[in-house]
Amino acid sequence: MTTLDDKAKEVSPDVVGDTNQTSSPDNCNCENKGKDSGGFILLFFIIGLAAALVAGWIIFPKLLYSQKKQPIDFNHALHNELVEEGCESCHFFREDGSFSGVPKLAQCIECHEEVQGEDPEEEKFVETYVANENEVPWLVYSRQPDCVFFSHAAHVKAAEMDCTVCHGHIGESTHLKTYEENRISGYSRDIWGKNIAGFKKNTWDRMKMDDCAKCHQKETGSKGACFQCHK
Ligand code: HEC
Ligand code: HEC
Ligand code: HEC
Ligand code: HEC
Ligand code: HEC
Repeated sequence: MTTLDDKAKEVSPDVVGDTNQTSSPDNCNCENKGKDSGGFILLFFIIGLAAALVAGWIIFPKLLYSQKKQPIDFNHALHNELVEEGCESCHFFREDGSFSGVPKLAQCIECHEEVQGEDPEEEKFVETYVANENEVPWLVYSRQPDCVFFSHAAHVKAAEMDCTVCHGHIGESTHLKTYEENRISGYSRDIWGKNIAGFKKNTWDRMKMDDCAKCHQKETGSKGACFQCHK
């Protein structure tokens, strides 16, 4: 106890002397101290910024989207070679002009009544779905909210647009990608876009209201009335 107090008393005159010295104009200690704390503030700023960026660009999107696997994988490239009418063997327009959308078991059954090959995905497909006559609960990447009306005939038939303009290259893929669902809105990530900041490289990167309207403006000269897309 006493020794510590004594030491403090011994040291204090020196400390006072030091501070007196630093206040003299030809000593640069003060400025150095200022630079040091400035350096620290900058360092903390950079660490904080980096943490915010990591949270915003990496962690937030991961938390925002839940990943769902398709019930079975599907190889488009393989099947395009096997069927006779290309895409239309499975995705076709009915007589009334409506679009068949995702194929039903009926379009698979002629070839998959029994397991054909060694692929475990095919075995799963035949045993779980075909044998029990259960439709496959495919997750639709491009699914719009229920309030939106969309017609494939207007785009594919009337405007002669290619599937890739809106869907990208799913039709030529060998595997189905993971489906990502927005936890807040319940929408597919393909609607709100891959990029959190909204950058868009390809026409199919995002399909929000503005994306539909922008093309309508360009192609038809008008964004269209609300009731065109909302019925
Ligand atoms: C043998 C049947 C078959 C053929 C042929 C086929 N598809 Fe598919 N297609 C499917 C199945 C099954 C799915 C369901 C997977 C899913 O939900 O994405 C699918 C899904 C799709 C989807 C994804 C829809 C979405 O948003 O989820 C697109 C786009 C598509 N097909 C385009 C094409 C194109 C383009 C071709 C021709 C180059 C083609 N398909 C040929 C069976 C087929
Ligand atoms: C024209 C005949 C034909 C039609 C129609 C067809 N398939 Fe196939 N499918 C095959 C053949 C052949 C294989 C390859 C089997 C092997 O060699 O492993 C195959 C493989 C598969 C596989 C395993 C490989 C992969 O894609 O991941 C799955 C799953 C499958 N088919 C699902 C379907 C579904 C679902 C449909 C209907 C939308 C369908 N098939 C329609 C002939 C067909
Ligand atoms: C102008 C953009 C556009 C074009 C071109 C287009 N689609 Fe789509 N497709 C969509 C939208 C938007 C949806 C979602 C519709 C909805 O949820 O009501 C969709 C849905 C689908 C689905 C799932 C449908 C369902 O209800 O199960 C399939 C399969 C599909 N499209 C295949 C195709 C194929 C094959 C082509 C080319 C022949 C094509 N699409 C061309 C925009 C487009
Ligand atoms: C890349 C261009 C493009 C994109 C993207 C697009 N459309 Fe269109 N859409 C067109 C064109 C072109 C027409 C006019 C077709 C015609 O000649 O009748 C059209 C027509 C329509 C019509 C009118 C159909 C009718 O007969 O009344 C509706 C509804 C529509 N689009 C909804 C949508 C929705 C919803 C989306 C977004 C999910 C969308 N479109 C995205 C180009 C596009
Ligand atoms: C070209 C087609 C199109 C037109 C025209 C259009 N919308 Fe939309 N709207 C969409 C699509 C696609 C979505 C879903 C994707 C999204 O949220 O951006 C949507 C979403 C919405 C939503 C959000 C609904 C939800 O559940 O998230 C509202 C509200 C809305 N639209 C109102 C309007 C109003 C008001 C007008 C007229 C000024 C209008 N829309 C015109 C295509 C259209």
